[in-house]
Amino acid sequence: MSNKRVLSGIQPTHDSFHLGNYLGALKQWVELQENNDAFYCVVDLHALTVETDPKLLQQRTLVSAAQLIAIGINPDKSTLFVQSQVPAHNQLAWVFECITGFGEASRMTQFKDKSKKGGAERTNVGLFTYPILQAADILLYQPDFVPVGEDQRQHVELTRDIAERFNKKFDKVFNIPQAQIIKSLAKINDLQDPTAKMSKSAASMSGVIELLDSADTTMKKFKSSVTDDGKEVRFDEKEKPGISNLLTIHSALSGKSITEVENDFSGKGYGDFKTAVAEVVISALEPIAKRTNELMSDRSELTKILKSGAIKANQVASETLKAAYSAIGLIS
Ligand code: TYM
Repeated sequence: MSNKRVLSGIQPTHDSFHLGNYLGALKQWVELQENNDAFYCVVDLHALTVETDPKLLQQRTLVSAAQLIAIGINPDKSTLFVQSQVPAHNQLAWVFECITGFGEASRMTQFKDKSKKGGAERTNVGLFTYPILQAADILLYQPDFVPVGEDQRQHVELTRDIAERFNKKFDKVFNIPQAQIIKSLAKINDLQDPTAKMSKSAASMSGVIELLDSADTTMKKFKSSVTDDGKEVRFDEKEKPGISNLLTIHSALSGKSITEVENDFSGKGYGDFKTAVAEVVISALEPIAKRTNELMSDRSELTKILKSGAIKANQVASETLKAAYSAIGLIS
């Protein structure tokens, strides 16, 4: 795949991204920037669906951008920007809200899960319309591919439906994008509950590996990871979800195939294997944490990078918005 337009986004809802974000999506982002025209966005408006202290949101938006640069997103190659600095996202979202059915939006499983978890009290309208804003995030940039993890597949499907509907009803304004999902990495699981995806909203962080965790914490989390009663380091998602998850993580970061890793640990115990996985992860994450801290020590430089990304993003986005406005009959 080359010379295509790529777009993706990530929420700044926590102090650190986690290993699921990194392996499921962000590692792909870095690879895709080499031969494509990539747009990557810290989606701060989406983060407003969860109540956050304003200072903390600012800090997390910056530390998110810093982590993206630290993992290898190069602002000279990719357009790296913050969603709220491109007003067209909200403007197009409104148009899409008016052509999306209530029932259609109600079917989004992430909304159903999150609203169930938070209860009626904490469920705001923004959480409900969130996937429609995501459709605007994507379609404004006319991307061919949207690199994401499995949990975003349904949102990209909705985005395609909205784009097709708009094009049919009004004028062919939008390119129809495809989700780019790497099957083997699309769902990294929690180390304490290896049948559930690793998630920022987990009840306990003991099974969630954060990119900015210290080496000690990472080692502890892996050592106490939940496996099974057996002894064999073998990939079997049904019978051995914990070991399979650890094999996936090791293989993704060491570059070895799952079979090679299985062979390396044949006849060895789970303890040795867990320590080895932790070591592979620590050596991948340590430079990321170090670079993130360096970048955070010069916030004005970071803000400058994001401003120049926003200028580029605004150029592309405002052109698409103009075409969409004109197609639906808004006068210019
Ligand atoms: P977010 O911020 O929850 O997650 C960012 C990316 O990480 C992936 N991911 C995972 N992949 C594998 N295993 C996991 N355990 C795991 N957990 C998270 C997600 O699939 C995602 O790719 N709605 C989006 C943000 C968004 C967006 C967009 C994405 C807003 N606008 C436009 C793409 C395009 C979200 O909440 O992702």
